[in-house]
Amino acid sequence: MTAISGKVVAITGASSGIGEATARLLAERGAAVVLGARRTQRLDEIAQDICGHGGRAITCATDVARHEDLERLVGRAVAEFGRLDVLVSNAGISKIGPVTDLDVDGWSAMIDVNLRGVLHGIAAALPVFRRQGHGHLVTTVSTSGLKIVPTQAVYAATKNAVRTLLEGLRQESTDGVLRTTAVSPGVVRTELADSIDNADVREQIRRTMDEFAIAPEAVARAIAFAIEQPHDVEIGDITIRPTVQS
Ligand SMILES: NC(=O)c1ccc[n+]([C@@H]2O[C@H](COP(=O)([O-])OP(=O)(O)OC[C@H]3O[C@@H](n4cnc5c(N)ncnc54)[C@H](OP(=O)(O)O)[C@@H]3O)[C@@H](O)[C@H]2O)c1
Repeated sequence: MTAISGKVVAITGASSGIGEATARLLAERGAAVVLGARRTQRLDEIAQDICGHGGRAITCATDVARHEDLERLVGRAVAEFGRLDVLVSNAGISKIGPVTDLDVDGWSAMIDVNLRGVLHGIAAALPVFRRQGHGHLVTTVSTSGLKIVPTQAVYAATKNAVRTLLEGLRQESTDGVLRTTAVSPGVVRTELADSIDNADVREQIRRTMDEFAIAPEAVARAIAFAIEQPHDVEIGDITIRPTVQS
């Protein structure tokens, strides 16, 4: 038995990268996982693999830009496993490029997924956490919000909006029911660069990933560390980056 064993954890953006690695690790350590994302075939394959190795996993088609999808994801966890202990709001996109590109559609998409998606998760999970008397909200933000660099201003702004949101929520929730954790990864080897529309920036990020990115499993271990603490211990912020990242 571990402190993670038996927990019910819903994860958005579980079809690849950090979300997939987190789902696999938590399931391996005995959690029941509820996988949400839009690519349902990939979710089903991951869930089948987890179940094939003796784990517990179900899937739920989820577009985090839609509030009702988060309600469905949380509802699936409660219906199938009786409760929701942790929501990992991890889904994110990175439509980065210079602000002067004026990519209004890309900005809106990042706000919809990276910020509104987390708000939708909070709206769906908080009533369940309050009813149960406990719950843990984990979000994947970014070192982009800690060190602001060219081409990442709007992406970083969405991540820092989430950081601010979580700190406000934390201060409003000191009655012991809710734990909040913001995980800030640096460069991680995932499919995130695929969502970049600016070809030059996309190639540059891919080169950086090839050069020194860490594996998504490293971030999954950091998330597991926050979850496995006793309920009176809240890990507020974790920054996890390649040792060589400037
Ligand atoms: N990789 C890095 O270097 C890095 C660094 C710092 C922070 N992060 C953050 O880490 C998180 C995970 O990204 P990743 O690096 O693991 O990249 P990834 O492999 O591209 O994973 C992104 C996940 O988000 C999901 N997603 C995107 N839009 C969605 C939507 N509208 N509704 C539901 N799910 C959606 C994708 O699934 P579907 O396409 O199937 O929906 C996918 O599962 C993101 O929040 C990202 O900003 C990544």
